[in-house]
Amino acid sequence: MGRIIIFTGKGGVGKTSIAAAHALISAEEGKKTLLVSVDMAHNLGDLFACSVGRNVTEIKKNLYALELDPDYIMHEEFPNVQKAVIDFVGASGANITLNGHFPLPGFENLFSLLKIKQLYESNAYDRILVDCAPTGETLSLLKFPELLSWYIEKFSPVGKIMLRVLNPISKLRYHVKLPDRKALGDLGQMHLDLINLQELLKNREICTIRLVCIPEKMVVEETKRNFMYLNLYRYQVDGVFINRILPEHMDNPFMEKWHSIQKQYIEELEKVFVHMPLSYIPWYPEEIRGSQAVEKLCEDLRSLSNLFDIRLQTDNEEYSLCENGYLFTLKLPGVIEDEVEVYMHNLDMNIRIGNFNRCIPLPNTLQRSQITSVQLEQGVLKIQFKIPEFPNTEEAH
Ligand SMILES: Nc1ncnc2c1ncn2[C@@H]1O[C@H](COP(=O)(O)OP(=O)(O)O)[C@@H](O)[C@H]1O
Ligand SMILES: [Mg+2]
Repeated sequence: MGRIIIFTGKGGVGKTSIAAAHALISAEEGKKTLLVSVDMAHNLGDLFACSVGRNVTEIKKNLYALELDPDYIMHEEFPNVQKAVIDFVGASGANITLNGHFPLPGFENLFSLLKIKQLYESNAYDRILVDCAPTGETLSLLKFPELLSWYIEKFSPVGKIMLRVLNPISKLRYHVKLPDRKALGDLGQMHLDLINLQELLKNREICTIRLVCIPEKMVVEETKRNFMYLNLYRYQVDGVFINRILPEHMDNPFMEKWHSIQKQYIEELEKVFVHMPLSYIPWYPEEIRGSQAVEKLCEDLRSLSNLFDIRLQTDNEEYSLCENGYLFTLKLPGVIEDEVEVYMHNLDMNIRIGNFNRCIPLPNTLQRSQITSVQLEQGVLKIQFKIPEFPNTEEAH
């Protein structure tokens, strides 16, 4: 089974460098490795001092690189999907511009994810390492498959059927299988692809996310929020890389001051990510450009014994049975109680935190239920659903 590792973090913190070093080490281990950039400001070519573009380029033995152009992929590789979604939005009465652009901002980027899924399913690579754009854009990208699925489930008949079949409680209890894709139209296939995409990206055996940061206030704050939002959308973070750490004893008061500032933020990161593998990377005297410079970074990463292991033990979201109904738990490390709002709206459970609202269609079993309690305990959100006359009249559909 292949692996996908996604690198994310604030702009300029070292995502590309660290993703590239992972890629070099992976190739050295004899694993066929693809390093993919989904940042529109691609710079893999710069880093390896060679030309990388829309087509897979071999960098060295076992190492391949690709810079994705979502607009190109959308038109050239998934024209049916694009058309199906535009027709669907048109039919649902949404305002759509005449030149065929989709009104959901960032829609094109979804095609980068669909392309990654296609590359994964081709079985051509053992590991796919994804170098992302800065945090905000990456979060918008990663929430897109669920968001678009939600639209299809709400507004198209095919989506409504899928929602019934695929709700998490039906899956939990009846081990239902996905419908045959040939039996579905273009929109149904698109929806199925979105569901498969989410299953792929949220399957911790396959896909994990690694956060890259530097020990500075703004970056630490953003890293904590990013981690919490990734959890909100059920992505699995399995490592944090603290980059650009100054050496000790620099014999220079100015640098010593910076060193003590860094120390304070490293300690804060250690407290927040207490159960997460943290990796410490020094600040090198030179930029990381060209394979030789990346090699220096590789030396430091190689000393981490379990670099490609999945460093996670448990899922971060689940439904379980409890007295009178079901309990939904979601790990939201670092969230502040006052900022979490949970409410039902149109048969969906909404979890709102700051500017992000995750809308989770409720399984049919829970649609007649009531939320009886919402609690946040040590970073875990616990939502209890009471089902009338549970369990006697309870059915899964
Ligand atoms: N540990 C480090 N020491 C020295 N320079 C670094 C280090 N990590 C990154 N850099 C440099 O910082 C800049 C940004 O790194 P990059 O990997 O492109 O970040 P991102 O992909 O997050 O924007 C690059 O010029 C890179 O060479
Ligand atoms: Mg980058």
